[in-house]
Amino acid sequence: MQYRTFGRTGWQVSDIGYGMWGLAGWTGSDDDESLQSLHRAVELGCNFFDTAWAYGRGHSEKLLGQLVRAYSDKKLYVASKIPPKNFRWPAEPEYSLDDCYPPDHIRRYVESSLNHLGMDQMDLIQFHTWDDSWAGDERWQRALDDLKQEGLIGAAGISIDRWEPANAIQALHTGMIDSVQVIYNIFDQNPEDKLFPVCRELNIGVIARVPFDEGSLTGALTIETRWPEGDWRNSYFVPENLRASVERAEALRPVIPADMTMPEMALRFILSNPDVSTVIPGMRKLRNIEMNIATSDADGLSSDLIQALRAHRWDRQPTSWSQ
Ligand SMILES: NC(=O)c1ccc[n+]([C@@H]2O[C@H](COP(=O)([O-])OP(=O)(O)OC[C@H]3O[C@@H](n4cnc5c(N)ncnc54)[C@H](OP(=O)(O)O)[C@@H]3O)[C@@H](O)[C@H]2O)c1
Repeated sequence: MQYRTFGRTGWQVSDIGYGMWGLAGWTGSDDDESLQSLHRAVELGCNFFDTAWAYGRGHSEKLLGQLVRAYSDKKLYVASKIPPKNFRWPAEPEYSLDDCYPPDHIRRYVESSLNHLGMDQMDLIQFHTWDDSWAGDERWQRALDDLKQEGLIGAAGISIDRWEPANAIQALHTGMIDSVQVIYNIFDQNPEDKLFPVCRELNIGVIARVPFDEGSLTGALTIETRWPEGDWRNSYFVPENLRASVERAEALRPVIPADMTMPEMALRFILSNPDVSTVIPGMRKLRNIEMNIATSDADGLSSDLIQALRAHRWDRQPTSWSQ
């Protein structure tokens, strides 16, 4: 496993981290399987775990707490997220800070997450949605600063809403934010335009999320794919999105090198960018843990392949179904 510096925190984090949404929010999760996978990831050197209060209303956080207690001899970085008070994803421009993150709500949910984790302090707390019109409001800044001073959190970040990579840049300039979490993958290359240069300038940690575009970049989806009732992917991969996503994933096949799989190429594309501190694939199956972590020790992609993948960039705008 390779490690990278997580912005100005100086933490040395595994470049393959662990996305923990699926463990408590997608159909088909099984706690025994999840814990086995989490343990295997730690054994293979993974030390960065991304969870959220909203992932099973604390269930994913509880699994992470169990894991951390089982490895008291190892430093495992714990990142969670505060849900917006109105429980609406993403943040719409008309929502106010009071609708989403008033100071008492920030504190209440940090305490609630710590309670689920069974810990006195977590390394990173992130806003689970964001609208940059709130950047100048000192109330969220003071709330985070107080939590840092009191030792409840080590650092603070923003998880940027889907397909709006520039919608946190003003907040970064306040100096109160240590990391961003953003969708960055072979399709969604646009964080490179404005967000990553600011992160480089201000030494902000970058968590690249959704490396497989919620599944299409694993190459496993077809236009017939459906998920069990209640699985959120049915509402994301609506017919127009499923068709376009599958077509674009299939269009990648000719450029995949003979000794590589599509998921491997997807992760190595992200890791080829030194602006990324860690990428957090969602993974529950042991096989996926082992395959994904193995990409850490592989080289970055060749510049010819990166160049070829530039043509597969897909700039998208938030829509009614994008969430
Ligand atoms: N708003 C936010 O803050 C937000 C939103 C979305 C995601 N996130 C974070 O980002 C993480 C990653 O995103 P995601 O989980 O939504 O999507 P993702 O990482 O793009 O895709 C996850 C899917 O890929 C599958 N997979 C993983 N490795 C694979 C491999 N080597 N081969 C084939 N399939 C593989 C997983 O299967 P199995 O699960 O069956 O192993 C799962 O179905 C989340 O877990 C969460 O921590 C945050």
